[in-house]
Amino acid sequence: MKIGIFSPIGNNGWLLSENAPQYKPSFELNKQIVQRAEHYGFDFALSMIKLRGFGGKTEFWDYNLESFTLMAGLAAVTSKIQIYATAATLVMPPAIVARMASTIDSISNGRFGLNVVTGWQAPEYTQMNMWPGDEYFGKRYEYLSEYVEILRELWATGKSDFKGEFFQMEDCQVKPRPQADMKIICAGQSDSGLAFSAKYADYNFVFGKGLNTPTAYAEINDRLKVHTDQTGRNVQTYVLFMVIAAQTDEEAMAKWQHYNDGADLEAINWLMNQGNKDKTSGSDTNIRQMASSVSPVNINMGTLVGSYEKVAEMLDEISTIEGTEGILLTFDDFVQGVEDFGQRIQPLMACRKHIEIEIEPSSSLNILEKTA
Ligand SMILES: Cc1cc2nc3c(=O)[nH]c(=O)nc-3n(C[C@H](O)[C@H](O)[C@H](O)COP(=O)(O)O)c2cc1C
Repeated sequence: MKIGIFSPIGNNGWLLSENAPQYKPSFELNKQIVQRAEHYGFDFALSMIKLRGFGGKTEFWDYNLESFTLMAGLAAVTSKIQIYATAATLVMPPAIVARMASTIDSISNGRFGLNVVTGWQAPEYTQMNMWPGDEYFGKRYEYLSEYVEILRELWATGKSDFKGEFFQMEDCQVKPRPQADMKIICAGQSDSGLAFSAKYADYNFVFGKGLNTPTAYAEINDRLKVHTDQTGRNVQTYVLFMVIAAQTDEEAMAKWQHYNDGADLEAINWLMNQGNKDKTSGSDTNIRQMASSVSPVNINMGTLVGSYEKVAEMLDEISTIEGTEGILLTFDDFVQGVEDFGQRIQPLMACRKHIEIEIEPSSSLNILEKTA
């Protein structure tokens, strides 16, 4: 089972709460987190792109770095971990993204891959007069299909003459071609998103569901399989979960309760309103649901709360779900969370037994002493 870190490129990570750790994103913070994740054998690091936050008392996600430039920096200060940036495809032409990807491929020595998103929150784009109108909701994945066809063509041949509804290329050239097979990931949850991934993506990210229900998301693997049966491609899912861990279940649950008690209702309300604007794309299982149901305080991300042992058990359960190849993690406190994962959770996980960590006598002892 692969493990990835969803690095906090936006302020306060994924908790919309006045009681959660409050911090702004910086290169130094993301560097520390991703370097420690690399040390503990994480397979990959991903950052999102968010061009407008949700406001509220916590100014949630009003502060966001840009994904490619952040990941280029991280590629230069890591050596093993795979690096993924997210392209806001509505505002970044494919030939520019293909070239940026080739550049980070060069910086990282072939460790780079691309997450492509259609965009779901109009104000990110209307603020620049770059939203194509609400009919785009229903055409998002047709647009993305053309986009990815161009990327693949440019990476494979260095050239594109693609002509479609959304893009017309004319002897478009991008060289150097990447040295490694460039992986494309997507996070489709709607039927059109899953159909897209089955046809074009190498992996598909899905949202974990509920509180301490690690396998509740499994039906989306079945939905994806209906589409991959048609395309004949092997596309596995990577599932997103937030881990909130402590010495005991009670301690971890108290943290979760505390975050919920401080929920930033204004920011949550903004998210709900934006999520509800897509009436056409069949985006039923995703953004709207994220904002509205069990735990809006973390965008209704699947959440694993408990002792280190319990969290390890739940992560092992996820690894038994057919069609899942990896888990993408967020933490309430990323710096401490990565250390706890590396030192206390991962060593208990059957599905991570193969991971060997280089011993760092002084620093790991310090951390153990601090947290004991
Ligand atoms: C792991 C993960 C990363 C995502 N990253 C972004 C992102 O960077 N920017 C964005 O606008 N949406 C992002 N999304 C939202 C998805 O692109 C997608 O719109 C959402 O999952 C709903 O699926 P649908 O497009 O099939 O309706 C992400 C979703 C997941 C699960």
